[in-house]
Amino acid sequence: MRTIKIFDTTLRDGEQSPGASMNVAEKLQLAKQLARLGVDIIEAGFAIASPGDFEAIKTIGSELEGPVVCSLARAKEADIKRAWEALKDAPKRRIHTFHSTSDIHLKYQFRIDRDEALKRSVQMVQLARTYVDDVEFSPMDATRTDMGYLCEVIEAVIDAGALTVNIPDTVGYSIPSEFGAMIKAVRDRVNNIDKAVISVHCHNDLGLATSNSLSAVLNGAGQIECTINGIGERAGNCSMEEVAMALRTRRDMFNADTNIITEEIMRSSKLVTKITGMSVQPNKAIVGANAFAHESGIHQDGLLKDKSTYEIIRPESVGLHKTKFVLGKHSGRHAFRTRLVELGHSLNDEEINNAFERFKKLADQKKEIYDEDLEALVSVEYAMVPEIYSLIDMSFSSGMNQQPVATLKLSVNGEEIEKTEQGDGPVDAIFKAITSITESQSKLLKYEVKAITGGTDALGEVVCSLEEGDKSVSGHGADTDVIVASAKAYINALNKLAARIK
Ligand code: KIV
Ligand code: ZN
Repeated sequence: MRTIKIFDTTLRDGEQSPGASMNVAEKLQLAKQLARLGVDIIEAGFAIASPGDFEAIKTIGSELEGPVVCSLARAKEADIKRAWEALKDAPKRRIHTFHSTSDIHLKYQFRIDRDEALKRSVQMVQLARTYVDDVEFSPMDATRTDMGYLCEVIEAVIDAGALTVNIPDTVGYSIPSEFGAMIKAVRDRVNNIDKAVISVHCHNDLGLATSNSLSAVLNGAGQIECTINGIGERAGNCSMEEVAMALRTRRDMFNADTNIITEEIMRSSKLVTKITGMSVQPNKAIVGANAFAHESGIHQDGLLKDKSTYEIIRPESVGLHKTKFVLGKHSGRHAFRTRLVELGHSLNDEEINNAFERFKKLADQKKEIYDEDLEALVSVEYAMVPEIYSLIDMSFSSGMNQQPVATLKLSVNGEEIEKTEQGDGPVDAIFKAITSITESQSKLLKYEVKAITGGTDALGEVVCSLEEGDKSVSGHGADTDVIVASAKAYINALNKLAARIK
């Protein structure tokens, strides 16, 4: 039985999804969850791309235990040095460098010939090896590269010291039989291939990223690059939960498995949704809301008789449990802290105290507090951004035959400002009042409300995505009153935007 390494690139390629950008605190929170999930390598960012990426890699590298932490770097000296700067405190670190190899990219994008691309790739792998032992090289657009040349590049970078060679289907063009044959050809034709792990990185433009990755495993690939919920550039990347569960469920076919702790899948998926604001389609395999819902009477009948009739994966094995009541009004700080630790949160005393205060307020409004409510309560501690704007008070009125109107009082850099606005509905009126107070130029990209648990007293969770110039962010707010949650989400997004524009 082979163990396939899981290289998670949610924080790098995943973050390239429009609107999915994350701040350092959010990336660290997600990296900790990825470590709990059991991924082998975390691509924490692209160090030279922005100060935020650099900081995130540095923070994750120095705070995280377990997985290898990796930075992406173009095959350029400055990129590799920057990646090293970001990684040098990480006990386990990798530099992942890449250069295009397809004639289309070399001719139209780089305007260099094959020899020059080969030379740059080799030199930069050698440079990366002067900093770290663990170097990965990707010939970008590999699936549209001449096979003879691709093998030549791979052999040369392995000679130069690359320990992992990644075959990216950058534009999501390949199909499973072809991609599998390509991996086999690399194994057959590259003389020193036994000195490196073959990795694959498939994009989902034709909906084939998972199938292509699995076909690669059948042909000898030892590492899969993927993201939680399959997020990523354009149509996204191979989805982590799909490959991990396919390998686990069909070990008989693949004779391979991963180190993934599958019970952590659901929680990882929800965290990515919460942080990026990107919801999962209901019929998405493994993590969609309907993935384990059996609707047809015939199926239900079979399931009642024996689960094996229609269920190939036990919902609990991916961390899907029936929500259970945990805490209430009379629960104390100790029970609160204990449950948070059981849920995998490591907050300091001040953070626990802040969260406990919010818990007590919530317990006054809501009789039963579920795990999901607790997750929403503490997510505020992770999503901390400097608060230029904070909500002091708000009131609104609306009705069937009444123009909705909202009055809001915000603190803006410590100064209290109050405005009243009318709108098409209460949320519209609230947002207009916030925009008028903050004078924000941002565009609202998305506004989404959902109930965290069942019941009319459920916490309402709002995600609000904003864009200004080339920056986009998602803000969150949770409250038993969805209008208040909406205001909190909008203000959280404005604070994040201000922190990114600064
Ligand atoms: O899709 C791609 O080719 C990439 C590389 C940087 C590996 O993301
Ligand atoms: Zn990619």
